[in-house]
Amino acid sequence: MEFNLTKTCRNLAASFAGECQAGMRYQLIAKDALNQGYKTLSDEIKHIAKNETYHAKVFFDYIIQNNGNTKNIEITNGFPFEGDTIENGLMFAADAEAKESDLIYPEYARIAAEEGFKEISDTFLRVAEVESHHRIMFEYLYKNFKEGTLFTSDKPIEYECTNCGFRFTAKQAFSVCPLCKSSQGFVKLHLP
Ligand SMILES: [Fe+2]
Ligand SMILES: [Fe+2]
Repeated sequence: MEFNLTKTCRNLAASFAGECQAGMRYQLIAKDALNQGYKTLSDEIKHIAKNETYHAKVFFDYIIQNNGNTKNIEITNGFPFEGDTIENGLMFAADAEAKESDLIYPEYARIAAEEGFKEISDTFLRVAEVESHHRIMFEYLYKNFKEGTLFTSDKPIEYECTNCGFRFTAKQAFSVCPLCKSSQGFVKLHLP
């Protein structure tokens, strides 16, 4: 069967579209976070957005490798347009990552294996694993952003200013760095 007639070809195209959009949605959240002074939060979200760009590239490359330059691949898919605030954006992102890691990519992997594309199947599973880590990150960021606990802790922990490197152990990060006067938004996050 020609590659462009397989389900795997359409699943790769849908995955490419999904990853591009996830990457862009995350960049939009990152921009809002930066505008509101949350530099390290913004950086972390951008980091995840970059991961999505690379996932998109991997899927794109498989299509080119197996099908050559392809004028048009018809896909019908729904995509979310969610994230009116940083808080909601993080919540919806966690949800989208869960769907990708637990449902969509394992299913695409199964179909690819069934159609005889072992390497593509393995790739879908590898991406699913990354998305499951993204889910953990977004759940953490969502919860702590919502509760205002990104820079507080039950026990004293070390907080570090990402600009000047000043370190300080307390239950709460400085609101203004005593050394370089950077705002709390520059404090290094304690990620899971
Ligand atoms: Fe991804
Ligand atoms: Fe992801």
